[in-house]
Amino acid sequence: MTTRLLANIGELTTNDPTLGDQSVMGRLHHAALVVDERRVLWIGPDDDAPEADEMIDVDGAAVVPGFVDSHTHLVFAGDRSDEFEARMAGQSFDGGGILRTVAATRHASRDDLRETTAARARALRASGVTTLEIKSGYELTVEGEGRLVEIAGEFSDEVTFLGAHVVPEEFAHDRDGYVDLVVGKMLARCAPHARWADVFCDRGAFSVDEARCVLLAAREAGLELRLHGNQLGDTGGVALAVELGAASVDHCTHVSDADVAALGSSRTVATLLPGAEFSTRSSYPSARRFLDAGVTVALATDCNPGTSYVTNMALVMALAVREMAMTVDEALWAATRGGATALRRDDVGRLSVGARADLLILDGPRAAHLAYRPGGPVVSRTLRAAR
Ligand code: NIG
Ligand code: FE
Repeated sequence: MTTRLLANIGELTTNDPTLGDQSVMGRLHHAALVVDERRVLWIGPDDDAPEADEMIDVDGAAVVPGFVDSHTHLVFAGDRSDEFEARMAGQSFDGGGILRTVAATRHASRDDLRETTAARARALRASGVTTLEIKSGYELTVEGEGRLVEIAGEFSDEVTFLGAHVVPEEFAHDRDGYVDLVVGKMLARCAPHARWADVFCDRGAFSVDEARCVLLAAREAGLELRLHGNQLGDTGGVALAVELGAASVDHCTHVSDADVAALGSSRTVATLLPGAEFSTRSSYPSARRFLDAGVTVALATDCNPGTSYVTNMALVMALAVREMAMTVDEALWAATRGGATALRRDDVGRLSVGARADLLILDGPRAAHLAYRPGGPVVSRTLRAAR
């Protein structure tokens, strides 16, 4: 394996509290780092850097861990920009548009879905995403969801079965029949290709009891759990996620004090998705409420065609800083180590000896440039370990 020395790092964020300033950000100045194609081998002061096969002089730039985007819906067809325009002209989001994407996705060929998913994954990678979760949820048939998890698996190891996204039209008068299908044949078809199961537990989607039934069956089938909760209302998703020990509950836009307290004494991560509030012109939840209660917070893009067609993680950080009252460091941690925690991964989202060699060399001397120059080309180079 070829070893590579990154020398002359102005500011290195490791997220390893045993390193550097010993803060949660584990920050070093005038640092260096050695990697091979897979792992981080050495971290320390630039003056003590060992020899390596290759050397990259980053010329005082900041280096941070690669982004971990723990929530995307990348596999879809069709266009819903008209809904965005209508919302910006005053209409509100009620989850109804998902069925339009379902119709378009059912009609798309596997090759088309593969190509459009690849383009979106490329855009996320270009923004510095080195670990990516991808959900199904836009076909809602046994074979359709099966092919979506298969396609997702071509781009990620973090594949999520979201057969319980909404009830499809053909089951509009038989909700129980659809839940039976999801926990029966659909789960059996998809479980071998997925690590996670998710449910959209909200107004217009699935109730807490329906979501519990799907998630318990999914756990029985060997999947780990995550949940869309409390996006449209205070509808019980957060409490359910805590009850089931889900790795993450995502959105958390409308939460009670009891929900926040329950999260604070659990291992469940609150994943905030400011792209969704931005694109639906909704009020942002305050991240401070969660952080001050000791909740682990992650940030993710929620890249999807309806409510957040966002493929830029630094922009998500900037929105969280500006609109959710996070500090820049809290947002950076949430977009890296927080995402890793939401995926129960210890090998990503941090730069420690032995962690994956996934890192970003920035165009700027400090990590703060990620939020300070929203939408700008701040990530100048990404190193991503071989899969
Ligand atoms: O995370 N909330 C449910 N699912 C998506 C919306 C998907 C869509 O509108 O197509 C979300 O926001
Ligand atoms: Fe989502």
